[in-house]
Amino acid sequence: MGAAAAHVLVFPMPMQGHINVMLHLAATLAAAAGVHVTILHTDHNLRRLRNAAAATTADSPRLRFLSVPDGLPDDHPRSASDILEIVDSLGTAGRAAYRALLGSLLVGSAGGGGFPPVTSVVGDALLTFAIDVAEELGVPALAFRTASASSLLAYLSVPRLFELGELPFPPGGDLDEPVRGVPGMEGFLRRRDLPSTFRRQGDDHDVHPKLQILLDLTTGSCKARAVILNTAVSLEGPVLAHIAPRVRDVFAIGPLHAISPAPAASLWREDDGCMAWLDGQADRSVVYVSLGSLTVISLEQFTEFLSGLVAAGYPFLWVLRPDIIVASQSTTNLQEAVTAAAGDSKARVVGWAPQRDVLRHRAVGCFLTHAGWNSTLEAAVEGVPTVCWPFFVDQQINSRFVGAVWRTGLDMKDVCDAAVVERMVTEAMESGEIREKAQALAEKVRQDVGDGGSSATELKRLVGFLRELAT
Ligand code: UDX
Repeated sequence: MGAAAAHVLVFPMPMQGHINVMLHLAATLAAAAGVHVTILHTDHNLRRLRNAAAATTADSPRLRFLSVPDGLPDDHPRSASDILEIVDSLGTAGRAAYRALLGSLLVGSAGGGGFPPVTSVVGDALLTFAIDVAEELGVPALAFRTASASSLLAYLSVPRLFELGELPFPPGGDLDEPVRGVPGMEGFLRRRDLPSTFRRQGDDHDVHPKLQILLDLTTGSCKARAVILNTAVSLEGPVLAHIAPRVRDVFAIGPLHAISPAPAASLWREDDGCMAWLDGQADRSVVYVSLGSLTVISLEQFTEFLSGLVAAGYPFLWVLRPDIIVASQSTTNLQEAVTAAAGDSKARVVGWAPQRDVLRHRAVGCFLTHAGWNSTLEAAVEGVPTVCWPFFVDQQINSRFVGAVWRTGLDMKDVCDAAVVERMVTEAMESGEIREKAQALAEKVRQDVGDGGSSATELKRLVGFLRELAT
C-alpha cells in the first residue's frame, strides 16, 4: 500500500480544551494531500458537537467523526468536577468499544465515506489506553499532549525532584522557595510554580495517589512513537530541547489554532451578542475575563474578582459558565450580581464566548485568565497582555512563564483578592512595556507558524512521519 493511503485516528479527551486543539490538528492533517482523518468523540459529545462537526466535514471531505460510549448514563451532568469519573469510565467501559471500533477500521472502508484502513492513531496523552490498545492491535500510536511543554518537563522531572529532596514539599514550607531539578528552569521556578498536583502529599506515600496517576499517564504517553506538543520554539524552545532526549521523537507544531482553519468546536452555546457589545467599546478599553472550561470558584472568590474589576473601572466582558460556582453555593444569580455592582453599560456577562474572536477584537485591552494552555496560546498569538489566576495542574507553571519569562502579563498566583485584581488589571491595561512584550512575542509566534517557521516545518515532518507509518 502506498503512502497516499494514510488514515489517522485522532482520539481527544472528552473535554473542551482538548477537543478544540485536536480538531485543529485533525483539520490540518486532513488538508495534507492523501491523508484521511477520523476524529473519535464520545457519543455524548458528538451529539453536542453535531453542528460544528457537520460544518467541518463539509469543508474537509477527508475528515469525519465517529464516536464511542463513555459508559456514563445519559442524564449524567458530566460537569467540570466529574473529570476523573469521566476519564475512568471512558478507560473502562469505553475501552472495549474503542478496541472493537479500531479493529473494524483496520479493514476495508468501515465507518463509511470510502476511507482507507486506519494506519496510525494520535491519542490524547491522558488517554494512554487509546495508545496501548492501538499498539496491541498493531497500529502505531503517537501521543498528543495538549498542555505546555514546561508542564510536561516538570512531570518528567519528578524522580529528580524527589532525589534532590525538593519533593515532597516540607509541611508548612515556604512556597516562594526556588526549586532545583527541573532543567533550564532553576533561575525562576519556585515551589508554587510547579503544577498544583505537586502540592498533594499522602500521609503514608511519598507520592500522592492522584499525582501518581498523572505521573503514570506521563510515563505511558512518553513511550509512544512520538509526542506531539501544541507549542512553539519562541515560547518554549529551551524546554523542548530538554524534552527531546527523553522521548522517542517530539513534534512542536503549535499554536495549532493559528495554523488550522477549523472553527472552534464548543460544547457550550457561544453567545455571539458580546461581539456587538465589543464593537461599541473604545480601542483597548475592555478587560476580557474567562477562567476556561474546568475552573470552579467559590462565591467568595467571585465576589473578590467582581469587586476588583469594578474598582479598576474598565468595562469588562466576563464568561460565567453555568457551572462555574461550586455546586453547594450555586444559587446566586451571578448576572444580577454583576449588573448591580458594575452597572448595565459597564459589564457584559456571557455563559460562553467566541473567545478567539474576542481576543482578536480591537476593544480588548487585557485578558484575566486562568492560564489554561489554550487560553495562554490564544492570548500570545493576539499579543494581548494577561493577568493570570492559575487554578490547577499545568496552569501554575504556565502563569510563571507569562509573568517571569515572557513578561507578557502578571501572575496573581495563589491570591484571590479584590485589591490585587484591581492593581494587576490596571497595570496590564496601562503598561506600555507589557503590551510591547506581548506584541513582540506574538510576532515571533506568528513567524513560527508561518512559512518556513519552526512549527510549520515540524508539522510537515509530522505529516511525513504519519505517511511513513502508512507504508
Ligand atoms: C485545561 C488546562 O488548563 C489546559 O492547559 C489543558 O491543556 C486542558 O485542560 P481549560 O480550562 O479547558 O483547560 O482551559 P484552556 O486550555 O484555556 O481551554 C479553554 C478553551 O475554551 C480555549 O480554547 C478557549 O478559547 C475556549 N473558550 C473558553 C471559549 O471558546 N469560550 C469561552 O467562553 C471560554
